Amino acid sequence: MDRNGWSELSEPQAQPVIELRDVSVRFPPEPPLLKGINLKVFRGETLVFIGPGATGKTVLLKTINGLIKPSTGKVLVKGRDLAALRASELAEIRRVMGMSFQSYALFDSMTVFENVGFYLLNHSDFPEEEIRKRVKDILEEVRLFDVEHLKPVELSGGMRKRVGLARSMVHKPEIVLLDEPTAGLDPISAAAISKMINQLKRQLSMTVVAVSNEMAVARRIAHRIAMIWDGRIHAIGPAAEILRSHDPAVRQFVTGSKDGPIPTLV
Ligand SMILES: Nc1ncnc2c1ncn2[C@@H]1O[C@H](COP(=O)(O)OP(=O)(O)OP(=O)(O)O)[C@@H](O)[C@H]1O
Ligand SMILES: [Mg+2]
Repeated sequence: MDRNGWSELSEPQAQPVIELRDVSVRFPPEPPLLKGINLKVFRGETLVFIGPGATGKTVLLKTINGLIKPSTGKVLVKGRDLAALRASELAEIRRVMGMSFQSYALFDSMTVFENVGFYLLNHSDFPEEEIRKRVKDILEEVRLFDVEHLKPVELSGGMRKRVGLARSMVHKPEIVLLDEPTAGLDPISAAAISKMINQLKRQLSMTVVAVSNEMAVARRIAHRIAMIWDGRIHAIGPAAEILRSHDPAVRQFVTGSKDGPIPTLV
């Protein structure tokens, strides 16, 4: 097994789609949040980050898509260093990525159609009719029917999560970043969304990087799991191995125990 958790047999020959080289993120005056993250994500895989609250999982996803700039180190997407790109090139790289946010980040004043179609309406030349069709199709993929005219406030939490998922994938990105795609949902809905993620991933041949602290979801969708703790990738490997790891911190986290090296609130 190498440092990225691939066994020799499973290691793809291809270039990584995403590569982080010694990435640190700091929000002064706070001490560094992420401390020298090295990571390769390969085409077609689903990598899930787990880890305690406020350890920087969301920040890591935002660093991968260029919303947050690393204090040191490099983020390469499809071999291109994000920091070295001109605005037009960054826009091109963003076109191949989609992201759904932990707290939905839907525009409250816009309808579901305007939210899901936002990227295509603003960054493509498709006629509105084509955009309507694409929005309808992707909404159907996440089992939402005839909701285009509704505003986010009129939707349940689970429906909003699915609208966010649809929005992240409507432009058929090669890479999708999903921040807690099932947080706050009941276990049956979470399982259904996990299945949708797997189906869409296959249909659109996407690479998925997700954050989820729900082990049932991680088990369903992840090829590899990486645990972020104390600013570092504390452990990374095939999902099944991480979920039954004997490492004290991983074990404590995966089983939700108060006993172990990770400090708890109570
Ligand atoms: N733009 C920012 N400016 C300053 N501090 C930030 C910024 N974004 C995040 N932080 C801080 O970084 C820390 C990690 O935040 P992050 O949202 O990445 O945590 P997380 O691991 O996703 O946690 P959770 O599991 O609760 O979602 C927090 O202390 C947060 O306050
Ligand atoms: Mg988060």
